[in-house]
Formats: sequence, C-alpha cells, structure tokens
Amino acid sequence: SNPPRRSPSDDVATARSPEAKLRVAVYYGTQTGTSARLARELEEATLHRYGKQVHVRLMDLEQVTTERAEVIFTRGHEPLAIFLQSTYGDGEPTDSSLEFIHWLRDQADDGRLPELLKGLTFCVFGLGNSSYEQFNAAGKCVDHSLKSLGAARLMKLHLGDDDYDLEGDFRRWKEALWASIEDTYGIHANDGIDQVSINPAYCVSTVSHENALEAEKRTRDAMSKCPRDGFATQQSPFAASVILARELHNVTSTRSCVHIEFDISDSGITYQPGDHLGVFAENSLAVIQRAAACLHLPLDHSFSLSVPEGSPVSLPQPFSSPCTLATALAKYTDLLSPPRKGALEALASVSTDKVECERLKRLASTDGKNEYEAFIGSPKRSLLEVLESFPSAVPPLGLFFGAIGPRLSPRYYSISSSPRCKSNVVSATVAVVSTTTPTGRLHEGVASSYLARFVSRANKTDVVNSAMKETRVPLFVRSSTFKLPRDPIAPIVMIGPGTGFAPFRGFLQEREALLRAGNTLGPAYLFFGCRHEDQDFIYRDEMEGALQKNVISVLQVAFSRSNSSHKVYVQDKLASVAKDLHGIMKGTIGANKGRIYVCGDAKGMARDVHRALHVILMNLGGYAAHEAEGIVKRLAESGRYQKDVW
Ligand code: 2AM
Repeated sequence: SNPPRRSPSDDVATARSPEAKLRVAVYYGTQTGTSARLARELEEATLHRYGKQVHVRLMDLEQVTTERAEVIFTRGHEPLAIFLQSTYGDGEPTDSSLEFIHWLRDQADDGRLPELLKGLTFCVFGLGNSSYEQFNAAGKCVDHSLKSLGAARLMKLHLGDDDYDLEGDFRRWKEALWASIEDTYGIHANDGIDQVSINPAYCVSTVSHENALEAEKRTRDAMSKCPRDGFATQQSPFAASVILARELHNVTSTRSCVHIEFDISDSGITYQPGDHLGVFAENSLAVIQRAAACLHLPLDHSFSLSVPEGSPVSLPQPFSSPCTLATALAKYTDLLSPPRKGALEALASVSTDKVECERLKRLASTDGKNEYEAFIGSPKRSLLEVLESFPSAVPPLGLFFGAIGPRLSPRYYSISSSPRCKSNVVSATVAVVSTTTPTGRLHEGVASSYLARFVSRANKTDVVNSAMKETRVPLFVRSSTFKLPRDPIAPIVMIGPGTGFAPFRGFLQEREALLRAGNTLGPAYLFFGCRHEDQDFIYRDEMEGALQKNVISVLQVAFSRSNSSHKVYVQDKLASVAKDLHGIMKGTIGANKGRIYVCGDAKGMARDVHRALHVILMNLGGYAAHEAEGIVKRLAESGRYQKDVW
C-alpha cells in the first residue's frame, strides 16, 4: 500500500566513487521528516561540491539497532560520521533514534569503554526549538556520548533552532563543516567538471485515467484492512472511518475545537490513554485546484513516478502511484508550508522569465537571506502562494515532486479516549488552526481544517453521513511514556488547559472503568483552563460528571478572560491545594507514588506551571531555589512529573 520504508543503500555513492578519498556517513534521526530532508540536502550538496573525492552514505538512525550499532561505527567503512539529530516534545529523541540513543548512552554511562569509538571522527548538528526547556537535548546527548566513547570531534556541536532560523543555522553549519573537512582531509571543492545536478527529479510516465483509479482503489483497500504485520505504523497506516465529529466550542466562541472519533474495529490498533494518534490529512479541493493550475495540468491527469536509475543523489521512494494529480496533491504534497531554498532553486531552473528567474535565484541564495525572510519567512508565504507569484516557473511533475513539493507529513494529536470505554474507538481533540498571517492572508492548518470538515458533513443529512463513512483517514498510534500510574491508589494531578485536557479525558475514562470494576482510586486533581465559561469550556459535562462520580476528587477551572482586569490561569489555581501538591511532590502523600501531569502549550503554560510548582516547594517546604529545582528534576527523572507538551 504505502511506499516501503527506504532502506539505506550505498550503491549510488559506491558506484560513483569507489576510490573516493573521503568516506562519509550522514546519519539522521527524524520525527516529522526535517532532519531526513536536510540530510539528503547535505548529501546532494556534498556530492555536488566534491564529486568523486567523496563517498557519502545516508542512513536513517532507525537502522542503527542495538545489535548493529557497534559494528556500524567501529567496523563501518566511513571514518567520518555526521549526525543530524532532532529533539522533539519535552527533550525527547525521535522515535526512530530511540534505540540508537539508548545504546549510545548505555555504552557511555558504562564508563569502561573510553576507546570504543576511537577510530571515528564525528560532528553533530542538532535540530531543536529554543522555546522548549530541553533545547536540543537529544543532539547534546549524541555529541557528549560519542566524545566520551573516544570518538574525535571534527567540530563543535551546532544547535539548530526552529524557533529562530533552522534553515539558516543549517546552511551556516554546512559551510563550517565543509571548511573543517577541507582543512582536515585535504580535499577541495571541485571546479565544476564533476558536478551533479542538485535538482533531483523522479521519472514520470503518463498512464490512463482508469489505470490510476484502479491503483488508487487498491491502495485504499489495502489500507482499510488490518496491516499485514498486525499493527499500523507511519509507513503502513490504517485507514479508519469517522464515526463522530462534533464542535466542542459554544456558538458564542469565534474559534473552533473539534472532537472526532475513528472506528478502529478490525484494525489491529491498540493503544493506551496518553498515546498519540498520527493522522494523515488532505489538502482541500480549493488548494489542489490552485496548485494544479500552477502546474498547467488538469486534476485528473494520471501518472506514475519512479526513482531514476543511477541517480547521483538519494531520492526517497515516491508515494504510491499510479495516481491522479488530484490525489498526489491532496494526500501527498505539503503545499501550505513555506518553500525551502532548494525548492526555489529548482523553480528558478525552469523559469522562462528572466526577471522571475533572477528573483528566485536571489531568494535561494545565501546573500538573499534578508529577501527570503521578508518575502517568505516572516509572512509565512506558502509554497502554493510562491508558485502563484512566479507564473513563468512551471515545473514538470518529476521535478515538482522530487525537489519542490515536500511530502505531507502526519500530524500528531494526544489521544482523548480510553479503549476501556469503547474498545473499537479512538478519539482526538483538535483545535482548529485558522489565523491571519502578518500580511493579511488566511492561514488554515492542513490537518485541523481537514478534520473540521467532518463536522459540517456530520451535521447535514444522512446521505452525507454515509459519505462521511466512505472517506477514510489513514492513521496510526505512536506510543508515549505519558501514562497513568500502575497502581490506581497513587494520587494524580492533571494540569491541562484547552486541548491539553485531551489525554486526561482518556485518564478519566480509564479511572471510571477501574472504579466500576471495584478498584479503590487514589485522589485525582484536575486543573483545566479556558477563556470563557460560556465559550470554550470543552467537555464540561464530562469533567463535572467525573467529579460527581468520584472519578476525580478536585476540579479547578481557570477562566482567563471572564474578568477584564486580570487573567486567571491554571497555575494560579494550584495555590488552592498547595499543601496537597507539596505533600505529593515530597512523597508524604501517596508514598512517593504520586504523579503530576502537564499537557498543552510548552512555551508559556508548561514553563509557568513548572515555576508555580517551584514556588510551592519554596514556600511550603522552605527550600532554596536550587533545592526546589533539584526536587522537581528528580521527580521528572523518576517519571513522577510528566509532560506532553507542544
Ligand atoms: P488566554 O488565551 O486568555 O491567554 C487555553 O488555551 C487556556 O490557556 C486559555 O485560557 C489561555 O488563556 C490559557 N493560557 C495562555 N497562556 C498561558 C500560560 N502561560 N499559562 C497558563 N495558561 C495559559
């Protein structure tokens, strides 16, 4: 059904340069695809720069399993290892690099292997976001651990910052990397004779419309069954039908938040409250119509894509084809994110107008940084808008899907249900993203507005309702460590304003089932926050019902905008039970088993809640600031203070 996972292959580079002076491996740990994309860019650009002097091998860290790691790094054929390591959430490595990082840390912590990686030279580029507390934690860990295992740093760790200018950080790092490589290994940028094209393109063959529709149907049918190996993954998701979609905000609210339930009967999918749901969304009809117009092709144009033989650069496997252009644009192409510089370069290469071509080249160049920022970066201009702004650049499909339109990645939501409530249902709680950009254009989130469209369908006639069942949404579960304590007696504190309540809805359902089954439950505190009691107090009945049924013991709700003179937030409500919180943190309540959970916005809320917990420890326990921090840190390390933040 879905394209198979790309396996690392070095045949391309080997074929080109058996006698290369320098053999380099580029490893990437990616969650949403950014570091994979940058790794490919680095590979392309490095080959472009050094030609046959280098051999570059690209490898997803997912392939570096515990069994293979030592062999790969110690008996591998690449003395230079470059790591592009992403951090996401609260300082976590990507799922794909978890095993590698555990292996690395275990070896480093062991302390008895200071020379394990002695022959290896390395450097690390971390991808992170400085608005998160644990900025680039995974990249730092890789750098530090490699060093303590005896590997030599080619250059110091670089921390890319997605909150500022990740692409710029990457480009600057790449330049510095090349300078270090040239210094250390005595190779030089070549004179252009040996250069390879840096605009990768797929081979395209046109197929009949019937052929494409049949192939699409086969893909859909395969995805609507339980995946062959038993569970749905990002590579082989399960296409679920929607059984319920409803608006959670009251009519008085100007914003929208959607509750959506998927049918996972016979899917093989299992989950626990606290896990995440990965959802593949689609671009709207209006968006794909505009994109097709830019490509000068009708939406029913049907084609098939393949990786050209002997391509000098690594192209990922294309999406499932044959297919129609409509499907390719709707399901597989990210049209609404800002284009990266490589895309602008590729557009420049096909522009037939001199002025447009120069402008595109300028935007893509290192010198054109300010122009890029002004035209694309700060106004958040999407790829689609850029295509419309340069009508002379009409890329052929192979180039468009190879170098311009990136793959649409899945979006993740905290699951808001428990299988103990309805075993065949998984639900998500989705804040609908619809904002006006600085230049006055409407920006709508691809996934949230896609899911919100089910609400309007659900409210129409039964005929449309059955159509809703026909439309299937590919999804999969990503497990997390955000979990209820095993012992239901342990006290829990749940802090989750807005959609941060999502995983706690699952927790509440779980506790209700436990209670019904005759278990005794420990105390549970729920802190929820929203703007107005009569606008966005989502799931109010369920929260109040849980309190009545003793599923929770305390419910505190902060309304931030009902009083015009000052805001009340969840962290302000913590003070009302400060003594209990202090006891839970210190372990005098709940015998060191009590847990505190925070879910929602990482930048403001999670940071402020962290401070509030701090203050409680200082005020009630008489701790100095650094002691309070130590306590909170130990709570986090032992899994008793958990965050699911974004
Ligand atoms: P506001 O929009 O009025 O600022 C859910 O989004 C709730 O979280 C809203 O009431 C929102 O309030 C609130 N919120 C915003 N920033 C916050 C912060 N730093 N700490 C806690 N709550 C916050």
